[in-house]
Amino acid sequence: MAKPLPVLLDVDTGGDDALALLLAMASPALDVRGITCVAGNCALERVVTNTLTLLDAIEAPPVPVAAGMDRPVLDPGLPAPPLHGGDGMGDLGLGAPRRSRVDDHAVEFLRRTLSDAEEPMTMICLAPLSNIAMLLRMYPCVGEKIERLYVMGGTYAAPGNTTPAAEFNVRYDPEAASVVLQSGLPVTLYPLDPFMQVRITEEEAEALTRSRGSSARIAGGIILHYCRFFGMAFSLIGDAGTVATVIDPEGATTLERPVHVELSSGITRGATVFDRRILTDGFAREGEWTEVDVVTKVDAPRYRKLMAAALGAVEALDD
Ligand code: RIB
Ligand code: CA
Repeated sequence: MAKPLPVLLDVDTGGDDALALLLAMASPALDVRGITCVAGNCALERVVTNTLTLLDAIEAPPVPVAAGMDRPVLDPGLPAPPLHGGDGMGDLGLGAPRRSRVDDHAVEFLRRTLSDAEEPMTMICLAPLSNIAMLLRMYPCVGEKIERLYVMGGTYAAPGNTTPAAEFNVRYDPEAASVVLQSGLPVTLYPLDPFMQVRITEEEAEALTRSRGSSARIAGGIILHYCRFFGMAFSLIGDAGTVATVIDPEGATTLERPVHVELSSGITRGATVFDRRILTDGFAREGEWTEVDVVTKVDAPRYRKLMAAALGAVEALDD
């Protein structure tokens, strides 16, 4: 087996960030070297508490957790979306964390970890990009130690979720998203198009809650919370799909396309505009555009199975 890939995760835990953390911590393909927290799905302190609580609940190794930006680079922030529940992580009642965060601010933690790394590291960004933008602006040299950024954010051809035009992570901090996506660093963007594809049914989630493993039980509880919140017979693995793309890139279809982040204050603020035209020679393209690898679709059955296998609960799936 290949050596596990050292990765850093940036999260706004968040129920689906928790699903992503459960997958990342359970997967033999990844070596999670650090987790940084940022305001988004809920206030920063709640994101940190949820992240620490989750790691305790699965008796995770002592992976460093650092607190970062408590608001966007420029905007005042957005209200916490109600879909994640009162505690921001599906109201599972997991109790208070026993472990603590590190003292360093997330940006300092990332700078030091990347600077000290023997090899460039992979970053998995599942939240507003405020931490990552500040890192790149304060310490541009760390870019040499970033192998690739896998970013959950934006839309390719799908509608937005937070507004008709924009996805939550990008809309929450559009300037930060623009800094990161226009950085010229290798970026794989996982937009709402594949994000909405990978589903777990309510029945499968019920079966997960009866699993032996704590990770599977917690994942089932979070998915059931979303099913009940939306009154639907299924929900999504959400951010965990981004982690699946890192673990099993063969399951994702990607295109290299120019992207622009809309920073105007109008109804399209925070939109990720991709130039999807076939013929562009001789046609104008104002604004700032940068080529990124964008995941346009994924093999959903493959990623469902990957998630269930990592949680030790393949029997919970109906297919
Ligand atoms: O739009 C979905 C994204 O916003 C997910 O990362 C979710 O956790 C929230 O951060
Ligand atoms: Ca998230």
